[in-house]
Amino acid sequence: MVTLTATRPTAVPTTYPTKLLIDGHWVDPLDGDSFPTINPATGETIATVAAAGPKDVDRAVKAARQALESGPWSRMDAADRGKLLYNLADLVEQRAEELAALETLNCGKTINDSRGDIQGVINTLRYYAGWADKIEGRTIPVRGNFLSYTLRQPVGVVGQIIPWNFPLLMLAWKWGPALACGNTVVMKPAEQTPLSALRIGELAIEAGFPPGVINLINGFGETTGHAMVVHPDIDKIAFTGHVETAKIIQKNAADTLKRTTFELGGKSPNVIFADCDLDAAVEGAFHAIYFHGGQCCTAGSRLFVEEKIHREFVQRLAARTQTRRIGDPMDPNTQQGPQVSQEQLDKILGYIALGQKEGANLVVGGNRVGDRGFFVAPTIFDNVRDEMTIAKDEIFGPVVGVLPFQSMDEVIERANRTHYGLAAAIWTKDIDKAHLFAKRVKAGTVWVNCYHVVDATTPFGGFKMSGQGRENGEAALEHYTELKTVTIRLR
Ligand code: NAI
Ligand code: MG
Repeated sequence: MVTLTATRPTAVPTTYPTKLLIDGHWVDPLDGDSFPTINPATGETIATVAAAGPKDVDRAVKAARQALESGPWSRMDAADRGKLLYNLADLVEQRAEELAALETLNCGKTINDSRGDIQGVINTLRYYAGWADKIEGRTIPVRGNFLSYTLRQPVGVVGQIIPWNFPLLMLAWKWGPALACGNTVVMKPAEQTPLSALRIGELAIEAGFPPGVINLINGFGETTGHAMVVHPDIDKIAFTGHVETAKIIQKNAADTLKRTTFELGGKSPNVIFADCDLDAAVEGAFHAIYFHGGQCCTAGSRLFVEEKIHREFVQRLAARTQTRRIGDPMDPNTQQGPQVSQEQLDKILGYIALGQKEGANLVVGGNRVGDRGFFVAPTIFDNVRDEMTIAKDEIFGPVVGVLPFQSMDEVIERANRTHYGLAAAIWTKDIDKAHLFAKRVKAGTVWVNCYHVVDATTPFGGFKMSGQGRENGEAALEHYTELKTVTIRLR
């Protein structure tokens, strides 16, 4: 277990791997470039990291293809693939404190949130390690004198493009099932947060993954990411990020008819009924929106509150919000660190200004905190209406909109009136209401009297424009295997 302690990290790295990991070697780009990576708590540059150009993407794909078709990986027993994932999980566990510190340094999440993420990484790698030798086909009672069975085989070389909000956890969600199923990987971390992935790349080599099985290339979306999406020898793209980016990727992947899976954003409804446990619901609404500064695809950003308790609820949430300790994310007493970048800071402040212009009632927050780093005060808008931009767009910051409601039918209809469908939650003591809501709300995950409970074992993904496919749990295996039917004539 990674322990959550009230201490600053004991091992903050001061040197970092910065090159490209291709075919088991750390190499300089052939036609790429380099870019600075920033500490969002200070705005200062931490290191300069190599960016892959199209020729580098091609090198990585060739290495992944060779490892898939003819290297030791292609002949390895499934159980041994699992063993390598267990090895990696063990190494992550040994280096948990250092990895958590690196995550905090580059991403800005509080040290205890980073420690929680690292535990999630370990859990995910171990969960999929266990799957490696349990991915089975079927025998099928076909008509005629034949024997038919199915094989589940790797999709091939998979390109994985991930965002900055959970850098290592998103890496584990993508490596775990891909490697358990026998694929080889070319991964591009987010340009905001390259450092922890590079460190885990070193651990992957130490764990014993053969050269070419895991390739790590940093760079920007429009260049490095794009070169992956159009590369003819990548079989699948797995992407997490913005819905508009997914649309571009789906169009660009069309020419090679790549398989694509998408985990995108949301505008998740968090619905508070008057018959809830009020203390738990206030705390739940607080956690739903402010966890990791709202930089969470499942953030409970549309807070529907039953009219009977609306006024009291907003007062209590506002009081709770004012206790939030914002500051140095390395300090274990800090509860909210900076947003990840200047771009995100500007975007969030832009939405706050728009909310006021559109006539929502700003209850608390609404401002940048300090003038160094990218900190935003937790913000509540009350009496938000469904048609306001702040009720429709994903803000991806610590900004919640409160929307009063009166009845179950009304709130379900309004909760579903969005092109998103990632998560939803209900707070009530009435079991009928809970099940009815769970059935009728259009979302890939529904929480009852809890929020942000996500586990390696449970399928995760979106309805509608929140995604395609599922990650985590057994469900992810389907998206990393091709199904082959073998039919044999029996004499
Ligand atoms: P983004 O979708 O642009 O970036 C995510 C990843 O996609 C990064 O690795 C990026 O380099 C890559 N990428 C960008 N354009 C690409 C392209 N044309 N081809 C291939 N890869 C490409 O997200 P960004 O700009 O970092 O954040 C913008 C907004 O996206 C946020 O404000 C938030 O609303 C949403 N977002 C949602 C996330 C989620 O967990 N669902 C995570 C991060 C951002
Ligand atoms: Mg972008």
